[in-house]
Amino acid sequence: MRQPLVAGNWKLNGSLGAISELLSGIGEQLSAVKVAELAICPPFIYLGHVQRLIGKSGISLGAQDCSDQDSGAYTGEVAATMIKEFGCKYIIVGHSERRHIYAESNDRVAKKYEQVKNSQLVPILCVGETLRDREDGRTEVIIAQQLDAVLGRIGIDGFVDAVIAYEPVWAIGTGETATPEHAQKVHEYIRNKLAAISKDIAANIRILYGGSMKPENAKQLLEQNDIDGGLIGGAALKAKDFIGIALAAN
Ligand code: PGA
Repeated sequence: MRQPLVAGNWKLNGSLGAISELLSGIGEQLSAVKVAELAICPPFIYLGHVQRLIGKSGISLGAQDCSDQDSGAYTGEVAATMIKEFGCKYIIVGHSERRHIYAESNDRVAKKYEQVKNSQLVPILCVGETLRDREDGRTEVIIAQQLDAVLGRIGIDGFVDAVIAYEPVWAIGTGETATPEHAQKVHEYIRNKLAAISKDIAANIRILYGGSMKPENAKQLLEQNDIDGGLIGGAALKAKDFIGIALAAN
């Protein structure tokens, strides 16, 4: 039984004051969430602040990225082991904004993924095609390459208890959501690809959908057999919307 996970990716948003307000709004509505696990991924600098505010509420904490190195002369980087010290459970790796704006290759993403696993944290590996890839009929090819880079580096065992997020790049922050049918088809492809190596690991892995998910479309998406939650950007910045998505899993 895969527990749905609704993870908020706050991206480059927030301030000490705004975060306190957002978390108190989430806290007020938290008791209505019966099924989903909630996670919040703030910018690095606020991890300690959020850790204190969420306390023992049961909300999980995550980071949006990590270094592909564990220590040394890498100015500006943050290691997975450091993130772990702030009570994090999750680290997002390979978000399309990292892949496209900061030119992270499949290989670099795989190295980061390995760092997360070495720190005994849970990676949320983002995969997804651009609009161009989609129009060229290359969705599965692109996703296979993104998964194969990680499989090639640490093997199928690296996917035990991991999380994958399918985020079609054309749906992120655009207001355009993948139809439940399109998303389900890709999620099924991802699960089948892993199942060809290990049925058990594939059956247990949670595959989230991300890309303009909101309370109005969450239920239809979460009803699909292979959609086990959501990675939420814009809607995670409003307590009512974030909780509204989580309630769709009740
Ligand atoms: P969005 O972002 O919900 O704002 O589309 C999702 C994501 O980038 O993880």
